[in-house]
Amino acid sequence: MCGIVGYTGKDLALPIILGALERLEYRGYDSAGVALIEDGKLIIEKKAGKLRELVKALWGKNYKAKIGIGHTRWATHGSPTDQNAHPHTDQKRQFAVVHNGIIENYIELREELKREGVSFYSDTDTEVIAHLIARNYEGDLLDAVQRTIQKLKGAFAFAVITVHEPERIVCAKSGSPLIVGLGEGENFLASDIPAILPYTRKVIVLDDGEIADITPEGVNVYNFSGEPVSKDVMITPWNIVSAEKSGFKHFMLKEIYEQPKALNDTIKGFFSTEGTIPFSLKDFRRVLIVACGTSYHAGLVGKYWIERFANVPVEVVYASEFRYGHFPVGEKDLVIGISQSGETIDTKFALQSAKERGAFTVGLVNVVGSAIDRESDFTLYTHAGPEIGVAATKTFSAQLAVLYALGARESKEREELYALLRGVPALVESALELSEGVEKVADKYTKAKDFLYLGRYLSYPIALEGALKLKEISYIHAEGYPAGEMKHGPIALIDESMPVMLVAPKDRVYEKMLSNLEEILARKGKVISVGFVNDDVLKKKSRDFMPVPEVHETLTPFVTIIPLQLFAYHIASKLGLDVDQPRNLAKTVTVE
Ligand code: AGP
Repeated sequence: MCGIVGYTGKDLALPIILGALERLEYRGYDSAGVALIEDGKLIIEKKAGKLRELVKALWGKNYKAKIGIGHTRWATHGSPTDQNAHPHTDQKRQFAVVHNGIIENYIELREELKREGVSFYSDTDTEVIAHLIARNYEGDLLDAVQRTIQKLKGAFAFAVITVHEPERIVCAKSGSPLIVGLGEGENFLASDIPAILPYTRKVIVLDDGEIADITPEGVNVYNFSGEPVSKDVMITPWNIVSAEKSGFKHFMLKEIYEQPKALNDTIKGFFSTEGTIPFSLKDFRRVLIVACGTSYHAGLVGKYWIERFANVPVEVVYASEFRYGHFPVGEKDLVIGISQSGETIDTKFALQSAKERGAFTVGLVNVVGSAIDRESDFTLYTHAGPEIGVAATKTFSAQLAVLYALGARESKEREELYALLRGVPALVESALELSEGVEKVADKYTKAKDFLYLGRYLSYPIALEGALKLKEISYIHAEGYPAGEMKHGPIALIDESMPVMLVAPKDRVYEKMLSNLEEILARKGKVISVGFVNDDVLKKKSRDFMPVPEVHETLTPFVTIIPLQLFAYHIASKLGLDVDQPRNLAKTVTVE
């Protein structure tokens, strides 16, 4: 988690670094800091809290430095205080380091350094890197970093600057993401592409075990043994507009409204590369989907589609459970890792372990060049553009589109299903139009303490996803459940104070959902329902009704998720919460 950034060039470094940190803040927002070199001296400014606290502290300080590094933190080792905020320095304050990841052997290194007389000022694992680099420095920063890395265990991406070489940044990657941006007379580094989009779209994606030596004039990449590595320069298709709010109050709201475009681009992308997919699902005895959070919910929907269209059994497993469980997996299995970021460590490790055991691995990611993209045997892409809001919305819809297409590809009714899929962006557009009233519905429930979300069949994972959206941004407890299981326990929760969200489009389980509705009403539960716009029965029986367009029964998830995303958004927004950066969360989860 955490975001790191670096700049060396011809312009003032501070505004560039602060702007880049703003675009990286989704990765962590417990504290932020910068290190600059000006007139041969190291300047460190850092503050606990969100980036705006650092910006306030910097008001009126007109630093002229043209080199610097910055950090936005999601705390792991050490609470979020000014002192634990990055950058960290050596004792003489000649070297400054920003770091994303965990140095697993930091206690051992710390003790060793203490025995040599070093005193520590923070509780972080990162501080050891600064002290080690200072001790290993003999006039060449690259060499000092190379020697330091030999001592580090764990996952890291870090960048270092020193007063001794005031135009140079050296950064290294092992496990955590790191890219280098190429400009004219200036160069950049960052944890993720959106950080540098106002300046360049030319990007080098570093691989694990690589170090980049960056000056305004150029970038050289080496492996950890010091040998030069030749790297491809990628031109990212993302642009700065996709990384800005463009008049919306929050990124999440903008991204909800971007779904028709994200779907359109993803569906087109799938059809244009379909011919390159080197496998048929039917070649395997089973498809195993590993993922976390929202991506896991997309996998659950995908299971219904793939089993229905392709008649291949599918299992969906939380990546964090797969890794330490005993799932028999081997050559006859196709393992799909779904991950928006492509960096989620649980999903990455689950795929690695499946690959080691002989399975064919496929990544489904939104970020080209991400770890899962590079490490999978094959990658399918969503083309949703950068997603900045911590709550995943447009990438979920885009993942659904790829999973639908993947299943449909194997069906006898392939062409009909493809035609249905092509119509999805317009259906989602009309779902957004029909959802105008969701804000008013949300108004009535801002004081609720608990919610139950129920659905069956394709709407069951949508109920789970709706509940996840609500809890992660509004901090209201919400539980998603298969409606058929209600009578086996959760029905005991229902009374007049319990709002129940029912996802009930007219599909093969609609009548069953109506029975569930009666059972809830009989116990005085307050029903809010999501259903087809012309469903007068559901509308009449529900306390509140959120309409979606009538769609083919295989397409319901694409439209039913829309009012649920908006419902969660409006509740959180009305509660005055930080929708895009909910407490304790980070967009990219690179710790286990
Ligand atoms: C979604 O709203 C969450 N913030 C989270 O559950 C997320 O989906 C999960 O961390 C997986 O991320 P990934 O898709 O980048 O792997």
